[in-house]
Amino acid sequence: MTYQTLLFEIRDGIAFVTVNRPDKLNALNDQVMAELAEAVERIATAPEIGGAIITGAGPKAFIAGADIGDLSRQGPFDGKARAMRGQGVLRRLETCGKPVIAAVNGYALGGGCELAMACHLRVASETAKFGQPEVKLGIAPGYGGTQRLPRLVGKGVALQLILSGEMIDAREAYRIGLVNRVVAPADVLAESEKMLRGILAMAPLAVRLCLEAVDQGLEMTLDEGLLLEANHFGLLAATQDMKEGTTAFLEKRPPRFAGR
Ligand code: COA
Repeated sequence: MTYQTLLFEIRDGIAFVTVNRPDKLNALNDQVMAELAEAVERIATAPEIGGAIITGAGPKAFIAGADIGDLSRQGPFDGKARAMRGQGVLRRLETCGKPVIAAVNGYALGGGCELAMACHLRVASETAKFGQPEVKLGIAPGYGGTQRLPRLVGKGVALQLILSGEMIDAREAYRIGLVNRVVAPADVLAESEKMLRGILAMAPLAVRLCLEAVDQGLEMTLDEGLLLEANHFGLLAATQDMKEGTTAFLEKRPPRFAGR
């Protein structure tokens, strides 16, 4: 598929996805969301893709939110449908089974912050700004912000951000646990790629099951989560990956994992 609003490139096992509407600060209009849905499906299903990096075009914004023009015209039913569509795309990304990093190169507001939170890790430029400003527009977050933000930073800090609509800088985002690393603007993509290549050098089935255990475990009781973890632990013991990883350690050599 050719995209009008995204750049999509696969380089040595990594899909680089760039939301490409820099004149509108990469705001998520319906076309971007439809194309993102397609791109996410491709990331999830293409065997040549081991992981993905998502970023925004231009020096100023990762994504400055859902397109406010689209939102201004919606009624209650299409508003709900838009939220559910967006939630579906982000959830598919979060559960695609492959590691995904948000390379946050500027404003990550509203839907932009929500998309970054649906990624597994976030690398931010020192110039990045985060926020859920929906209350200023008379709406509430609709692409998972009220659910993922408290899971990432805790209820009190999440409510402070969501109820005030205030923007925070990258250092503060790092301090509260919203981002994993803060780097110079020129290094955001390179650092994201380095981080992802490090993960892709690990045993792919183990990585996949770690993503699944953390994602599902957060919604389970401790006992259910521990059982899921034990099941994964047992399952991995049947894999060539575990044989190779443990053998390589005992033979004092780096592991050579196959299967990606
Ligand atoms: N939806 C639609 N268009 C948007 C947008 C959004 N979420 N965010 C920015 N844009 C557009 C602006 O309308 C402007 O378009 P124009 O040049 O055709 O007028 C262009 O992007 C540049 O934005 P501008 O506001 O001029 O840049 P700025 O540097 O003065 O301000 C922001 C940057 C991010 C502070 C400001 O654009 C903003 O507050 N955006 C909305 C953020 C938001 O509320 N997001 C949540 C939506 S649910």
